[in-house]
Amino acid sequence: MNEKLSFQPSVAPPLRLGAFPTPLDDAPRLAVALGVAALHVKREDLSGPALGGNKIRKLEVLLADARAQGCDAVLTTAGLQSNFCRALAGTAAKLGMRCALLLRGAAPGRAEGNLFLDGLFGADIRFLDVKDPWDPRARAALDALAAELTAAGHRPYTIHLPGASAGLGVAAWVNGAAELDTQFTAQGIDPDRLILACGSSLTLAGLALGLKRAGRRCRVSGISVQQPASRLVPWIVEAAARARPLLTDGPTLEAGDFDVVDGFVGAAYGAPSPEAVAAVRLAGTCEGLVLDPVYTGKAMAGLASCLRDGRFDAGERIVFLHSGGTPGLFANLDAFGGSQ
Ligand SMILES: Cc1ncc(COP(=O)(O)O)c(C=O)c1O
Repeated sequence: MNEKLSFQPSVAPPLRLGAFPTPLDDAPRLAVALGVAALHVKREDLSGPALGGNKIRKLEVLLADARAQGCDAVLTTAGLQSNFCRALAGTAAKLGMRCALLLRGAAPGRAEGNLFLDGLFGADIRFLDVKDPWDPRARAALDALAAELTAAGHRPYTIHLPGASAGLGVAAWVNGAAELDTQFTAQGIDPDRLILACGSSLTLAGLALGLKRAGRRCRVSGISVQQPASRLVPWIVEAAARARPLLTDGPTLEAGDFDVVDGFVGAAYGAPSPEAVAAVRLAGTCEGLVLDPVYTGKAMAGLASCLRDGRFDAGERIVFLHSGGTPGLFANLDAFGGSQ
């Protein structure tokens, strides 16, 4: 766990669930293939339990809060192949907590990837026919599920990332930025840009705020895999502001401090794009990295495209956040044409 904790003493200290610090690896062959001066990969996919990813850091904070409130059950809502739900189900199992998941979409005939793992980790899985994470019906259905758990004698803790839980999720990644800052110094790296996939964008909000607090000039550029930048930018500023009361003093995050890049969602959120599939192949071939075609693959496709068209300069030193999502690869093998 990071030594440079940014939390106010009033916030429960994060649980130790993950294998932190995660490595920051040089990726020289991928740098050459992309045509960029230097590339490092922050291996958050190796963060530990339940196959890791960028959710483990958030869960160390959220589940600490749940336990501090005396809760013995957790519940949330997300898409069918949610990495967050899988990580929540796995970490809840590890802590002996009950986990209920309200998955947005119709129940598929066969459980693959993350959905398979949700079941393996013993989660109580329900399905809800809503797509937008900000849809008020998702909130109402979560409340009903919480009431059901209470009636069954549990003390439930509801996680709503695009809502009440946003501040804690951002704060977790402010600590992630402190970990990166320490690694940059130790490894003699002074990057120009940090690239990551943006869904709820809490990871971006925490990293951008944390690197600003650390005085780093490293520009944080998110590649959106779900929402348009016009919706995300004000939300990221708001989410970072919600984290401020949880943190020790420091600067606030402003819209000019980071970028969100549109154009790489493809046909839909959660659907592999041809560019993402090509990027997954490239990272695998060059570095033995396992990206996925709906989050990290789209982020890598965005990085490649921005370098090709000059939006990002070829002379930059770049850090790519490998935010995990590996199980999603195995739910999307058809996109790879069923062959190597
Ligand atoms: C593998 C992976 N990468 C990136 C993200 C985006 O993280 P955030 O929701 O904090 O923007 C997610 C979110 O679901 C994810 O599962």
